[in-house]
Amino acid sequence: MGEREIGIGLLGCGTVGTGVLEILGRNVEAVTGHTGVPIRVRKVLVRDKSKPRRVALNQDILTTSFQDILDDDSIQIVVEVMGGLEPAGEYILGAFRRGKHVVTANKELLAKRGPEIFESSRKHGVMLRFEGSVAGGIPIIKPLEECLAANRIQEVMGIINGTTNYILTKMTSEGRQFEDVLREAQEKGFAEANPSDDIEGRDAAYKLAILASIAFGTEVSPDKVYTEGITKITPLDIEYARELGFVIKLLAIGKEVDGAIEARVHPTFVPARHPLASVNDAFNAIFVRGNAVGDLMFYGRGAGDLPTGSAVVADIIDVANSILSGVPAGAIGPGFVTWNGGRKISDIDSVSTRYYIHLKVIDRPGVLASIARAFGDHEVSLESVIQKGRGQNPVGLVFVTHRVLERNVRAALRVIKDLPVVMDISNVIRVEGEA
Ligand code: NAP
Ligand code: HSE
Repeated sequence: MGEREIGIGLLGCGTVGTGVLEILGRNVEAVTGHTGVPIRVRKVLVRDKSKPRRVALNQDILTTSFQDILDDDSIQIVVEVMGGLEPAGEYILGAFRRGKHVVTANKELLAKRGPEIFESSRKHGVMLRFEGSVAGGIPIIKPLEECLAANRIQEVMGIINGTTNYILTKMTSEGRQFEDVLREAQEKGFAEANPSDDIEGRDAAYKLAILASIAFGTEVSPDKVYTEGITKITPLDIEYARELGFVIKLLAIGKEVDGAIEARVHPTFVPARHPLASVNDAFNAIFVRGNAVGDLMFYGRGAGDLPTGSAVVADIIDVANSILSGVPAGAIGPGFVTWNGGRKISDIDSVSTRYYIHLKVIDRPGVLASIARAFGDHEVSLESVIQKGRGQNPVGLVFVTHRVLERNVRAALRVIKDLPVVMDISNVIRVEGEA
C-alpha cells in the first residue's frame, strides 16, 4: 500500500521488449487509467548496449547486468522478454527470491520448467503472469484459468504458431517458396531466435503444453506432446489438398478422450470451409470446448511486437493493481494453477483420425489393388483415391482414409513401403474436421 508508482525491470529489448516500451509510452493514459499510478521502466537489460533500438530510450537505463535490476528496490516487477532457458530461468528465480513479481512471454521456459517456476513463485509469495507466452495478443491463459473455471475443458485446438501459419498461407495463396517466406517472417519479428523451433513445431508444442496443462489440470510436459513441423510439406501436398477441398494448417490439438489427454502438434488437412481454414498470415485461432459453456473461438494476432506487448502490458497492469491493492499474491488469479500430475497422456498410436497418404508408385495394372489390400488387412478403410500423371513413372497416388487408429495406418504403411511397386511414401498428413 502507499506505492506512488510501479517500477519495471525489463529483461530484453528485442521484438517483444520494444512492443512493451512502445505501448507503455503510447498508451500511458490508458495504462495509468487502470492503475492510478505511473508505471516506470527503471532498467532495461540487453546484451549489447550500443545496438540501435527501434524505440526512443534513455541510454542511462540500459544495462548488461541483471544484478543492477535485482539490487534496484524501486523495481517491483521484472518483465522477462529475452527468451531461452538460461539465463532467463535463473533471472526469474532470482527475482522471486528478492520478492519481485514476474511477467514473462517465455513459453519454452514455462513449458519445460513450469512446475518448478510456479512452485518458487508460491514459495516466495510473489506473482507470475504469462499471458504473452501463448498466442501473442490473444487472451487465452486468463480466460482458461478464470472465465472458464466453472467448466471441465474437453478440447483446446487451434493455430498457435504465427510463423508457420504465415509460411503456409503464402505458399498456398501466392505459390511462394518456403525459405523465402520464412525469411520474411523473421524480418517481421514473428519467428523465434532459432526459427527451427517454429518450423519443426516445437514452439507450438511448448504453447500446447502450457494450454493443455491449464485446460486439463495436469502437467503436460512438452516431451509428451507428439510434434511434427511443416518442413516436409511440399507445393504438391498443398495442391492435392486444394483439389480435395482442404487447406494445410499446423494445428495444436489437446483433447480429453476416454479420460486420457491427447496432445499433438502436426500439419493437418482442414476442410476449406472450416473456420480455421480462413485463419491466415500470422493470425492465430484457438477453439475451446467446455462442458458448460460449449464451443468458443479466440482469434487474433499471434505474434509480433505490439500484439504480444499488449498481453505483456496487461499482465503488468494486473500485477501492479494487485501490488497496489495489497492482495496477497497466492490468493489471486493466473500464475497459480495447480497441476495435479498423474493424468494419462495418450500415445500417438492410439489417436483415431483421418489421414491423407501420398505415395509414389510404378504405374502398372494391379498396383492400386495391392495397396488397397494392405490397407484392408489393417482395417484402414479408404474414403477417396486420386492418381496423377497416368503413363509417367513413378506416378503420385493419393488416399484419404476414413477415421482409423494411427497404429493401424502405421502397420499398413510398413507393409506398403516394402511393396515392389511403391517407390516412396511421400507424405502422411492427418485430417481433422468433417469433410
Ligand atoms: P528477440 O527479438 O530476439 O529479443 C531478445 C532480447 O533479449 C534482445 O534485446 C537481447 O538483447 C536480449 N537478450 C537475449 N539474451 C540476453 C542475455 N543473455 N542477456 C541480456 N539480454 C539478452 O526476442 P523476442 O522475439 O522479443 O522474444 C522474446 C521472448 O518472447 C521469447 O521468449 C519469445 O519466445 C517470446 N515471444 C515472442 C513473440 C514474438 O512475436 N516475437 C511472441 C510471443 C512470445 P540485444 O538486443 O542486445 O541482443
Ligand atoms: N515464434 C512465435 C510464432 C512467436 O511465430 O508464433 C509468438 O509466440
